[in-house]
Amino acid sequence: DDHRVTRAANLIRTVLDFPKPGIRFRDITPLLGDVDAFGDVIDVMAEHAPANASVVCGVESRGFIFGTPLALRLGLGFVPIRKPGKLPGAVVEQSYDLEYGSTMLAIHTDALHPDDNVLLVDDLLATGGTLQASKRLVEQLGATVAQIQVVLELVGQPGRDSLIADGVQDLFAMI
Ligand code: PRP
Ligand code: HPA
Repeated sequence: DDHRVTRAANLIRTVLDFPKPGIRFRDITPLLGDVDAFGDVIDVMAEHAPANASVVCGVESRGFIFGTPLALRLGLGFVPIRKPGKLPGAVVEQSYDLEYGSTMLAIHTDALHPDDNVLLVDDLLATGGTLQASKRLVEQLGATVAQIQVVLELVGQPGRDSLIADGVQDLFAMI
């Protein structure tokens, strides 16, 4: 576990002042380009998934990169949580704030059922706004968030505390 996580962490680079001054942007593209390290990340995520998960939800865009291989590895379907105007069917929506702006997320209303236990996946936890909005979307459809997984948690940001305050019981941050 440790050596896989350390190698992945070493393949994430920090870009200063992107996309705005003051943001220290974590660039995961070197990790994605290393097939062994990328595979290890999906392995570690799968090893930490709850046994009762019935579906994986991933958040556009970077949550798709980790959520889809994880869903296949776990033998589960994948449900996308998308930015506005992208999903063709009936949706529910939530607005939220980013470190660098404000936007909305949406999910198809028929994508989840009330008995679904959702493994909610994104690449990175910063303020927590994205995953809070995503959790609300899951719950608006009557389903339950069984676990939230992120590859990277930014320490010194309120993400973890805000998700716990929102009732998240199981949050796995790999790095
Ligand atoms: C980034 C990142 C997370 C979110 C984390 O996504 O991929 O989804 O911000 O920030 P938060 O915890 O403060 O909400 P972004 O909206 O930049 O979109 P992208 O994945 O399409 O690049
Ligand atoms: N905040 C939000 N999303 C990000 C960041 C960040 O600092 N770095 C990479 N994606």
